[in-house]
Order: sequence, then C-alpha cells, then structure tokens
Amino acid sequence: MDEASVEGALSPAWWMPFTANRRFRAAPRLLARAEGMYYETTDGRRVLDGAAGLWCVNLGHGRAAIAEAVRETLTNLDYAPPFQMGHPLAFAAAERLIGLLPAGLDSVFFVNSGSEAVDTALKIARAYWAARGEPARVWLIGRDRAYHGVNFGGISVGGLPTTRAAFGPLLAETDHIRHTHDPARNGFARGQPTHGAEFADDLLRVIAERGAERIAAVIVEPMAGSTGVLPPPVGYLERLRAICDAHGILLIFDEVITGFGRLGARFAAERFDVTPDLMTMAKGLTNGAVPMGAVAIGAHVREAMQQGPPEAIELFHGYTYSGHPAACAAMLAAIQIYEDEGLFTRARVLEGHWREAVHALRQAPNVIDVRDIGLVGAVELAPIEGRPGARGYDVFTRAFANGLLIRATGDTIALSPPLIIGREQIDALTAGLADAIVESSKALG
Ligand SMILES: Cc1ncc(COP(=O)(O)O)c(C=O)c1O
Repeated sequence: MDEASVEGALSPAWWMPFTANRRFRAAPRLLARAEGMYYETTDGRRVLDGAAGLWCVNLGHGRAAIAEAVRETLTNLDYAPPFQMGHPLAFAAAERLIGLLPAGLDSVFFVNSGSEAVDTALKIARAYWAARGEPARVWLIGRDRAYHGVNFGGISVGGLPTTRAAFGPLLAETDHIRHTHDPARNGFARGQPTHGAEFADDLLRVIAERGAERIAAVIVEPMAGSTGVLPPPVGYLERLRAICDAHGILLIFDEVITGFGRLGARFAAERFDVTPDLMTMAKGLTNGAVPMGAVAIGAHVREAMQQGPPEAIELFHGYTYSGHPAACAAMLAAIQIYEDEGLFTRARVLEGHWREAVHALRQAPNVIDVRDIGLVGAVELAPIEGRPGARGYDVFTRAFANGLLIRATGDTIALSPPLIIGREQIDALTAGLADAIVESSKALG
C-alpha cells in the first residue's frame, strides 16, 4: 500500500463502526492482506488470526475457490433484481443451504448481514401470527446480555445497554428473560456449564406477565457470543424449546456466530439437538468474503404464510441485494470447502486440545473466568475499578502488537480462530495471549 492510501485510511473520512475513531487514527491498526491463518499489516507484520476476522472467516483467509466463483459469477451476471424476478443461482444456493439445516427448516430468505437476518426473522414471526389470525401476538422476547445486531428490532430484543443507550425509544412490545451467566456455580466450566437449565423458566415469568397469547417469538443466541461467550447450560435450550412449544411461541435461534462449524457441527441446533422455528445466519455463510445473511424458516411457518391467493405477495419485505449473485456464488463455494475439508466438524476434533490450551490461561494474572465450547474460548479479566473494558482493550492492543488478532468484548477476551487452525497454532495463540495478559497486568496492575 502506498503512502497516500495509508494517509487516506487515517483521515476522518471513514467513520469506523464500533470504534473510538479519534483514538484509532492516533494509533491505527491496518491490515493489508491475508492468507490461511494469518493477516499481514500495512507495515509488513504477520498476525495470527485468533478471531476469524470477526467470527466469520471460518475457512481461513484467501480461499481461491471463493474468489474465483465470485469473479466468474459477476462476469456472467453482475446483478439480478430479486423482487418478482430471480436467477437460478439463488435457488441453487437456497437448496444447498437447506441441505445443511435441521429437518423441518425448509426455506431460506436471503439478506445481507446478521442484523438484517434478525430484523427479518422478527418480522416473519409477527407476520406468521397475523397470517394465522392471531394478530395480537406481537411481543418479541429477547434475553439480557444478548447481541442481535444493530438494527432497531435487533437492539430492541438485544440485551446490551451500550447498543441501545443513544437511540431513544425502541420497539415497545419487547421484553427480556435473564441471561445464563452464573460464575458462582459455573466458574471455569469446561464446555457447557452444568448449572442453569432452570434459567429457561424465566420465560414463564414473562408469559405470566404478558400472556402467551400476545407473544410472537423468543429469540436467543444458542451460545451468546459478543457478550463474552456464554455457552448454554446443559438442558437449557431443550427447556426453552419445551416452554415455547407448550405456549405456542416461536423459537428463533440467532446462529450468526454459532453456525457453520463454529461449535463443531453445521449449526448449534444440530450440536444441541434443538430445532428452532426460525434461524438466522450470516458471517461463516460466505466465509466473510461477500456480505450475506439468511433466515431459515420452518415448514409450518412457510406453509401458514403461503396459503393465500397465489398472486398475493406473502411478505412485504426484502432487500435490493437479497440473493445477490456474488453472494450466492461465494456461499456455494464456501459450503463446498466446509464439506470437502471436513470443517463443519473440525472444531469437535480439536475441542480437547483447544479446551486444555484455553483453560491453561487460568494461571495468568487477573483472570477471573475461562469458558469454552467448540472452537470458541473466552478469558474474562477482572475489570479495573471505574474503567470497565480498559483491561480488555489493553490486552487486545498488546496482543496485536505481538502479532495476534483477538477480540475484546468489554473485559472478556474472545477467541474464535478459523477452523483450519493447527494444534501448534492453538498453542501459539494461547501462549501469546498469556504474554499479553502478563504485560498488561504489569502496566495496569
Ligand atoms: C448473534 C449475532 N447476531 C447478529 C449479529 C449482527 O451481524 P452483522 O454484524 O452481520 O449485522 C451478530 C454480529 O456479531 C451476532 O453475533
């Protein structure tokens, strides 16, 4: 990259998302290229990717087959309108995706991001009840500490106060059940925590307060990711499913992070053997190469909504780029790689080694909890009084300076490397993180 373009990247012209823009410009971290498990910075340093970019590059970087499929497709068909028009690749992509999903989910609605997938799923849930003749079912129930993207629906059911604070009144008919984090009973749990299936019963409290006949859907991340990695307690998702069934409430799994091999199965629904009525996905769907998301829809939902006169539009919703040819091509190429290289289940193969390596970080200073599941790890650090997130950010910047990309969410360090990671690279990642925590603790106490 030449000087002029580095200068451009440092200008205020790009308002960066979820970033302290002024601080970033003063000390930027710029990536120039990527291949396999590594990024390279604009100043030529190699950085081990411990975060799969942002939970999305599950197949590792620089996949030529994806790039080639996108190039070929764009050369042939750059764009096709998806409203009252279509193109064969989108139908092929939908078929292929359905082949990966738990039985019962038999159609997909294409979008361009996880946030759009969430808002689409919430709208489908309400529209389903309207189609079923129960228009009073509009309440959407989320969970504390949940992250469901940044659109208005997603932040309304989301449970992270910082993502809601500045934006005034949100969707009124939303409520939240309690989160599943219980460090007193489940501290340093290996895999799914033992305690906490009963947290699902908090949904009964909301049902008692609001009335099941007014609730459209419950949305949860099967494993909460962006809030700091909270694997579901044993039996929790099963109980949530049972309560939803007993009260006729739709269950939505937000699998934007947990899908596509992250937990050692195609989806968390498969790993935990709990099938939702609607499922959101994005990120690993195209290996991050082209923006794309999708909502998988239960056959019963589709059938209820597609039974009017055939000329009626069933859902007044969609995006200019729903099922974009480039995204469909990237997705098909990505799925081929997941299957050819056994990457849907590789996290399961590595899980034992991963677990030992991640839990060894317990010895590092200021570590107050360690969590793991699939190829996800979290190291929670003691917050500095009055400066929440400062320790996490400090460890993140030190790790990056030492050649590691990790993700800090508050004072929790989240690890989610590409699924192609080798055992030595796992050891390098966790050892490097330990060094960064030690350095940071020396500086910050
Ligand atoms: C569970 C979950 N849902 C939704 C989103 C939003 O996805 P996007 O950033 O693609 O809009 C994310 C992003 O991290 C996520 O983790």
